Amino acid sequence: MKFSYMLAPLEDFSDNALRTLCYRHGADLTFTEMIRVEALAKKVESVWERIEFKDDTPTAIQISVNKEYVLKKFLSMFKPKDSFKGFNFNFGCPDPQIVKLGQGCAMIKRVAKAEKLIKIIKKNGYNASIKLRLGMNLFEREKKIYLNLIKNVNADFFVVHSRYGTQKYNEPADFSVYSECVDTGKVIVANGDIETKEQVKNLKTIGLNGVMLARSAIVNPAIFDYLKDKDIPDISIIRKEYEELALKYNSPFRYRNNVIKHLGKPRKASQNVETG
Ligand SMILES: Cc1cc2nc3c(=O)[nH]c(=O)nc-3n(C[C@H](O)[C@H](O)[C@H](O)COP(=O)(O)O)c2cc1C
Repeated sequence: MKFSYMLAPLEDFSDNALRTLCYRHGADLTFTEMIRVEALAKKVESVWERIEFKDDTPTAIQISVNKEYVLKKFLSMFKPKDSFKGFNFNFGCPDPQIVKLGQGCAMIKRVAKAEKLIKIIKKNGYNASIKLRLGMNLFEREKKIYLNLIKNVNADFFVVHSRYGTQKYNEPADFSVYSECVDTGKVIVANGDIETKEQVKNLKTIGLNGVMLARSAIVNPAIFDYLKDKDIPDISIIRKEYEELALKYNSPFRYRNNVIKHLGKPRKASQNVETG
């Protein structure tokens, strides 16, 4: 796999407009925000709208689900467009409501269940990846339960957000875990606090297959081109481009407002959101 630059799933941010903007400025792959499969299976129209692709931006749909029959029911109704690049399971969400359902971070230790879900996606002919944290808490992180999942589940790639579930964003992401993840022989993408060329260079040296960016990409969606050593436009041009896309794709007010608020702002402004 070629080293890939990815826009992270971002609730209330990563709709089609932001995804397209990042794709135009160097992201190789983008992700929808987390979508509850239960709602898709129940045919909730507003949720189906969130997985409607409006152009050719390569996009994976991030899902949260733990019941096989719910996933199968949704897949029986799903008709992918060419720009659809597979499903990504969210095994990183620390939200207690999601964890209580046995989803998000709770899935990191449920290896057999994870493998069943991946198999269902693959049987339908789609790519399947997993985005995970290092465990729900420090205990699970120290037990390295993330390695057990990576070793024993056959996902196409694993995005490792190198924090555990109860860790806040003011604690730095732990770059030391990546080499043992790479040693599993699986395809690993790094996530957490990535924003410099130096970091990318080091991650390439360790053997990572890509990087996924969230908060640095909402400060400047052209960061992907920047990391690829390309020239980037002034942020005022990026803002104008975003506004045009948001209008064209009818982005909900909440998404527009969130993105515009963060564009060009120093990182701190977007740091106090605890999710994923
Ligand atoms: C506003 C916001 C919304 C997020 N929504 C999601 C989400 O829907 N799914 C997910 O897996 N992670 C979500 N995350 C987590 C990010 O994808 C990413 O893992 C995390 O922010 C660390 O990357 P960063 O340091 O590049 O921001 C969200 C993060 C933020 C700040």
